[in-house]
Amino acid sequence: MTTFSKSGFKTLNYNSFRPHYPPSFYKVLSQYVQKGQQQHELPVAKAIDLGCGTGVATYPLLNFVRYVIGLDLSPSMINTANSLVPQRLKEMGIDPSDSRITFQVGSAESFVNSSDNVEASSVDLITAAQCIHWFQDYDSFFQSSAKLLKSGGTLAYFYYIDPMIVNFSGPSQGIKEDILEKAYEVYLKFAYNDPNLIGPHWEQPGRNILKNFCEEVNSHIPRDEFTDITINTYKASATNPSADTAQELDLKKLNISLQEYLAYFETYSGFHNYKEKTGNVDLIKADFVKELVDATGWDLEKTKVDLVWNTGYTFIRKK
Ligand SMILES: C[S@@+](CC[C@H](N)C(=O)[O-])C[C@H]1O[C@@H](n2cnc3c(N)ncnc32)[C@H](O)[C@@H]1O
Repeated sequence: MTTFSKSGFKTLNYNSFRPHYPPSFYKVLSQYVQKGQQQHELPVAKAIDLGCGTGVATYPLLNFVRYVIGLDLSPSMINTANSLVPQRLKEMGIDPSDSRITFQVGSAESFVNSSDNVEASSVDLITAAQCIHWFQDYDSFFQSSAKLLKSGGTLAYFYYIDPMIVNFSGPSQGIKEDILEKAYEVYLKFAYNDPNLIGPHWEQPGRNILKNFCEEVNSHIPRDEFTDITINTYKASATNPSADTAQELDLKKLNISLQEYLAYFETYSGFHNYKEKTGNVDLIKADFVKELVDATGWDLEKTKVDLVWNTGYTFIRKK
């Protein structure tokens, strides 16, 4: 079971504090999808969003796909996704009676392997946002996706990891570059480097696959089934705080409070596992805050920060 499926995982917090891909990302994705169509026309008929969670990356697909199925292993994620449907469709100006989106519980592996749900060669787009690093068997995942996709259909996976604070405003102590470096060191200590903190509580190999920009996943792409392989990654840094040459990779939250930064950290599955194992629910709110504030001179109430994520995507086309 992944951590996200555990009953104690706060799926509404997840929905609120996780970053969303920018419209420029979906534009690049839709252009790629369009290129695979015989008439080069959008919308396409059908997409499946694997590991959809609360639907963060599922809804934007409705802008260029007629019918979208969101699928996730976690019943609590799917419950939250379903509870948000009326509100989200209203925000997008889509009539709920058009039934253009459904969310179902299911694993990426069993869904693509079963012919009960979706016919072979019937899907235009399969997406996996921020979840492919959890999948169990990449060879069978790619083969099953190839089976479901139409010729010319797209398989797209995309992800983000380890936000870096690249700027701040408000009280502080010291030289800006040093402060940013110290803040990142505190982050790395709590997220990975201290064996008594969250580091040992990540599910592996998933976290390491993600940290390595999904290279392991890319290495399994079957070249006899897929073509037009497009891989793009961006590594955030304080000296290069924007992915401005490839705006679709610009995943950021600007001018947010330290509380919001901490709330994002609290959505980490590694933190959830740490809490379960140790009973220490206040690690982030107490120890992390203290070290961060001591290292930077920031003020929990007044300091605002700009966060930029390392990110990347892979698009491939069914031959
Ligand atoms: C980090 S969340 C990403 C959710 C959403 N796609 C997004 O971009 O915010 C990862 C999701 O993948 C789901 N997941 C993990 N392994 C899965 C699998 N094998 N099949 C289906 N869903 C899976 C988890 O339950 C979780 O909801």
